[in-house]
Amino acid sequence: KQPLQLIAQATTQALFPGAPTQLWAYATQVNARAVINPLLRARRGDTIEVGLDNRLAEATTIHWHGLSIDEANDGSGLHPVEAGTQRRYRLRIDNRAGLYWYHAHPHGRTGVQLQRGLAGLLLIEDAEELALRQRLGMRWGERDLPLMIADKQVGADNAIVYKDGADDWIGNRVLVNWTPEPYLEVIPAWYRFRLANVANARMLRAAFIQGERALTMQLIGTDGGLLERAWPVEDVFLAPAQRIDVLVDFSALKPGERVMLRSLDFVAMENEDESGAFLPDPMADHPGAAAMGEPLDLMEVRVIECATDKRPPAHLPDLSAISSIGPLPDTTDWPVRALRLRMDEEGRWFINDWNFHLSGHEPAFSIRRGSREVWEIRNSMTSMPHPIHLHGFQFRILSRAISPPDIRGRQVAAGGLNPQDLGWSDTVVVWPGEVVRLAIDFAQPFSGTQRYMLHCHNLEHEDMGMMLTFGVT
Ligand code: C2O
Ligand code: CU
Ligand code: CU
Repeated sequence: KQPLQLIAQATTQALFPGAPTQLWAYATQVNARAVINPLLRARRGDTIEVGLDNRLAEATTIHWHGLSIDEANDGSGLHPVEAGTQRRYRLRIDNRAGLYWYHAHPHGRTGVQLQRGLAGLLLIEDAEELALRQRLGMRWGERDLPLMIADKQVGADNAIVYKDGADDWIGNRVLVNWTPEPYLEVIPAWYRFRLANVANARMLRAAFIQGERALTMQLIGTDGGLLERAWPVEDVFLAPAQRIDVLVDFSALKPGERVMLRSLDFVAMENEDESGAFLPDPMADHPGAAAMGEPLDLMEVRVIECATDKRPPAHLPDLSAISSIGPLPDTTDWPVRALRLRMDEEGRWFINDWNFHLSGHEPAFSIRRGSREVWEIRNSMTSMPHPIHLHGFQFRILSRAISPPDIRGRQVAAGGLNPQDLGWSDTVVVWPGEVVRLAIDFAQPFSGTQRYMLHCHNLEHEDMGMMLTFGVT
């Protein structure tokens, strides 16, 4: 079988009324039809090959976000694919079923390349997932749907705007699966949504709102796949790079009724100025955009007719044991690595004393393969929420301490954990003042030194150097 060939290129798409928009995207052919940023599907245990043909005027990569793979195929900026060159990624899929994603990751240019469109989804399936899907009686693409959410700053000429050296790039238009003003027609039934926040910097607080009321969602999965059981939630914080898997009940709704998938308002906690005041008005560069933490409509859901005899059952199967992820490990004997997120007087972000641009690209530290560590990530009080992402390894969240009230109020398990913390993750939000402890097992089937990145997935922070390299040897 021919490997899938993705061409990174500029492409013109009719997104908005009026002038077309230039995107940078991964273009390919599916059944002789031109598509961009295809959703890839793989089975755990498969090996898939993807070719990248870089026809941009600058270096790019494809990073496979969340996958447990070797350095050479991880697609970080350590292995740029220069303009006009090609390479092939060989991915042995060794992750749990779940929604993962792929995106460009060149040093210093990740923000602009994602804002322009270089990102897509990767769905991994395994036996546990297929069994659940059968029990739910939902088919992928019918009532089990991916929602890839991003905001873009769009100018009057419909061009996507980005400023080099930008901070926290939020936008005035929402795209869901690359569609502006998105809506979804649903029948009165349960639906399963896989939400992925692929925005540069915008944190979402996602909820399905009918009138004034939030519909209860059943949270069944996070970054690294299914949770042990379903958790009822009304809204979920979804930071850049995070994914959630939720079931939502529209079965009591009548045709013609509307529900809005909305990001609810929240306290953005942008406390990075030492004085406690906000930095210069970030909105100057984002005319028409909702500020961080302001409510934002994402997608409308419209209920349509469905003959009663064709309706799926209005109740769900028992979801008290949907996967076997096991309890948290006993980490008493594991060494603790302390990591501190902070900003210096010149407004540069650091992880400990490390800033990727200032400190160089050599590994900040090295870890013995097969060892296990607790990472204790502490965010300064004068800071922002940082979605911290680890390449190469999924982790478990052990505890949260000194959390802001909005987070503390969501606790459902010991250690300050909320439902979203109870599965496997590759990206974790550390709020200002918070201390989050992770359990990481550095076992992997590779040899030699493998280098990976740890960074903030606010892409402007990443590009400003809030990133480090570590080696696994
Ligand atoms: Cu999704 Cu290092 O990135
Ligand atoms: Cu990643
Ligand atoms: Cu950050």
